[in-house]
Amino acid sequence: MLAALTLLASSLYAQKFKELALTPPMGWNSWNTFACNVDEALIHEMADAMVFNGLKDAGYQYVVIDDCWHGQRDSLGFIHPDPQRFPSGMKALADYIHSKGLKFGIYSCAGDKTCGGRPGSRGHEYQDALTYAQWGVDYLKYDWCNNAGLNSVGAYTTMRDALFAAGRPIVFSLCEWGDTKPWEWGNDVGHLWRTSGDITDCFDCEVNHGTWSSWGIMKIVEMRKDIRQYAGPGHWNDPDMMEVGRGMSLNEDRAHFSLWCMMASPLVAGNDLRGMKKETIEILTNKEMLAVDQDSLGVQGYRYDAKDSLEVWVKPLVKGDWAVCFLNRSANIQKIDFEWSRNVVTDTVAHRTLNTNETVFTLRNLWTKKNIGSTKKNLQAVVPSHDILVVRLGKK
Ligand code: GLA
Repeated sequence: MLAALTLLASSLYAQKFKELALTPPMGWNSWNTFACNVDEALIHEMADAMVFNGLKDAGYQYVVIDDCWHGQRDSLGFIHPDPQRFPSGMKALADYIHSKGLKFGIYSCAGDKTCGGRPGSRGHEYQDALTYAQWGVDYLKYDWCNNAGLNSVGAYTTMRDALFAAGRPIVFSLCEWGDTKPWEWGNDVGHLWRTSGDITDCFDCEVNHGTWSSWGIMKIVEMRKDIRQYAGPGHWNDPDMMEVGRGMSLNEDRAHFSLWCMMASPLVAGNDLRGMKKETIEILTNKEMLAVDQDSLGVQGYRYDAKDSLEVWVKPLVKGDWAVCFLNRSANIQKIDFEWSRNVVTDTVAHRTLNTNETVFTLRNLWTKKNIGSTKKNLQAVVPSHDILVVRLGKK
């Protein structure tokens, strides 16, 4: 009886931190560009660049060091950063990042080693959570390598409980690649969960690494088509960090960024924030697109129609607005002639209907930032290959 009560009390008590990530988290992560080449000077520079280039003003917040910051565990099992790469220690780094008005993220793994072979948290969860809290960590990405067949729900719940017990509100990002359907159990455990393997910087390719593949933008989009009902404030599907500014064409970067916004995805830049091209900054800081991603309804948009590689995506927004985008996946220019009145859109997840026969909406192009008429007339435009047109529908 007592044991049952204790169990009940602890399960009532242990939970994830609520009130975090009520809109999709935004930030930067070191992995896509720097892999294991991380050190404190780099992280300082990235925090500085985030402020200098206007990303902070646009809403980017978390500066996340991915794999390979680790040194060794000491004789009591406490983890320390690599002393050569982080000689000032993690508390000093967190203080620096906080002094810029930003937040500090770190990476660990549910297995006994990270994917990069550094010490993982298995068996040290409570100790690591305390250490992170002491350092001033605000965000933890928790990976799934070397898990030796662990039960994923158990392993991630242990770290959730450890973070909660440590007392510092930390966004918990589950990185188990969609292997055990984290969308079905992740809401109780964390604030976002990866839905796929790793992203790579191409529009629609697969890169085979032997035992695993990394995936282009459209491959990731296709991989999980039916899980939008699991996303919402405080619990997001995470199609991985962005590849904007890492080598794709501007069209492709714009399409990639727009799709992530339409899908209410976490927006974690993965490029080098120092010396970015003007066009890259313009994409990452497009405030009207960001408002679509960060919309407080928190509904993940979806593909409403697809014909001849021309896709129409929709996302209901607050106050009866909608975002609608036209994505050209083909290698050729395509013409759009979209008759609003013939397209009555019913979103069965958000229980919202877009019916322009009943309500006339104004149209605003979110990339040219121009008002382009209303839904009374067909939307006619030309969309270049691998590019996108995004309009916001507002009530008159
Ligand atoms: C996995 C993750 C990546 C990155 C690396 C680090 O592959 O999915 O996002 O964190 O590990 O080793």
